[in-house]
Amino acid sequence: MYGTKAFPNVAVMRLLAEEGLGADVSTLGELRFAQRAGVPPDRLVVHGNNKSDEELRAAAEAGAAYLVLDSVEELERARVAGVERMLARVTPGIEAETHESIRTGHVGSKFGMAPEDALFIRDALSGVHVHIGSQLLSLTGAHETLEWLNRFLRDAEWSPEAIDVGGGLGVATHLDEHAPSIEQFVGALSHGLDVDARLILEPGRSLVGQAGVTLYRVGTVKRSGDRRWVAVDGGVSDNPRPQLYRARYTAILANRAEEAATTAFGVAGKHCESGDVLIQSVELPKPKRGDLLAVPATGAYTLGMGSNYNAVPRPAVVFVTEGEVRLIRRREMVTDLLALEFV
Ligand code: LLP
Repeated sequence: MYGTKAFPNVAVMRLLAEEGLGADVSTLGELRFAQRAGVPPDRLVVHGNNKSDEELRAAAEAGAAYLVLDSVEELERARVAGVERMLARVTPGIEAETHESIRTGHVGSKFGMAPEDALFIRDALSGVHVHIGSQLLSLTGAHETLEWLNRFLRDAEWSPEAIDVGGGLGVATHLDEHAPSIEQFVGALSHGLDVDARLILEPGRSLVGQAGVTLYRVGTVKRSGDRRWVAVDGGVSDNPRPQLYRARYTAILANRAEEAATTAFGVAGKHCESGDVLIQSVELPKPKRGDLLAVPATGAYTLGMGSNYNAVPRPAVVFVTEGEVRLIRRREMVTDLLALEFV
C-alpha cells in the first residue's frame, strides 16, 4: 500500500495502482485521491489518529480492506459507521532512530494504543498494525519491530489474519547519507515472522523520494558578510523539510552540469524569513540569474507538505521519462488563491 501522504497525486497513484499497489490513506482527501486514481477497495487501508464520523462512513462506503483503529474509543464509532474489517494500531514502545517529530512507536506517542488495549478488543480485529517512524536509515528499527511482533503474538497466542508493518524506509537526500535497500528493509521486517498472516507494507518515501527532482530558477546571487547566497523562486512553500527536520539536500546547476563546482553557496528560498534556506552550503559553478538549480531526491513530503506562504502559488509537476514530458499537476496561479477570498 503506497503511503499516500508522501506525495498525494492522482497520476502517481494511478501509476502505482497499475503496478499492483494499493494505498494507505489517512484523511478523507487522501481517500478521494485514491478513489480518483482507481485504487481498488481491497487494496485500501484507512488510517488517522482523529477520524471524523464522515471519514469513518467514507471508509465503510469505499469498502476498504481495513480500517486501522487508533484508539479503543474509535471501535464503537467505526461499528456504527458500518466498518467491518479493522486492525488495531499498536504502540510497541520502540524509539526509532530518526528525527523526534517523525517517531511514532514510543510510549506516550499520539498514535496508536497500548498492546494490552489491542488484546482487549481482539475479537473485533482482523489484525495488528505497527509503524515506528519514518526516514529510518538503519535496519535497527525493523529488527526491533519484528522481534516485538513475534513476542507480542506468541504471548497472546494470537495468529491474526493480517499484519501491517507500516512504512519507514528512509531515502538519502544528501551525498553523505546512506539508506538500506528495499530488499534489506523488507527482509529485516518480515524474514522470521512466526505467524502466517497477510503481510501489509505501507512505503511512502522509499517509493517516490528519489523519483522527484525539484527545478528552481536562479534569481539573486550575492554575498552577505562571509557567505555567498543564491536565491531561487521557491523555498519553504515547496519544501519545508530543511526547516522542520533539519533535512539536508544537495544541488547542481542543471543547465551547466558539466562545469566544475568551484564555490560554496547557501541556497535561499524567496520567503520572508531567515529560516527559509533549502541548503546551507553546496559547491556550484558560479550561478547566474536564469540558471536552473536542480535538487534531487525531493519527491517525498515536499510539495505535499507545501503551503502558499507569502501567497506564493505552488509549482507544476511533470512526469519525465526518456525525454518525454507529461503534466500531472498544473502550476497554481495567484488567481487560484484569490478565488478563495471574499472582499
Ligand atoms: N504508514 C503510516 C501509518 C505512517 O504514519 C506513515 C508515515 C507511512 C506509512 C509512510 O512512511 P514512509 O514510508 O514514508 O516513511 N513529513 C515527514 C514524514 C512523516 C511520515 C508520517 N507517516 C517528513 O517529511 O520526513
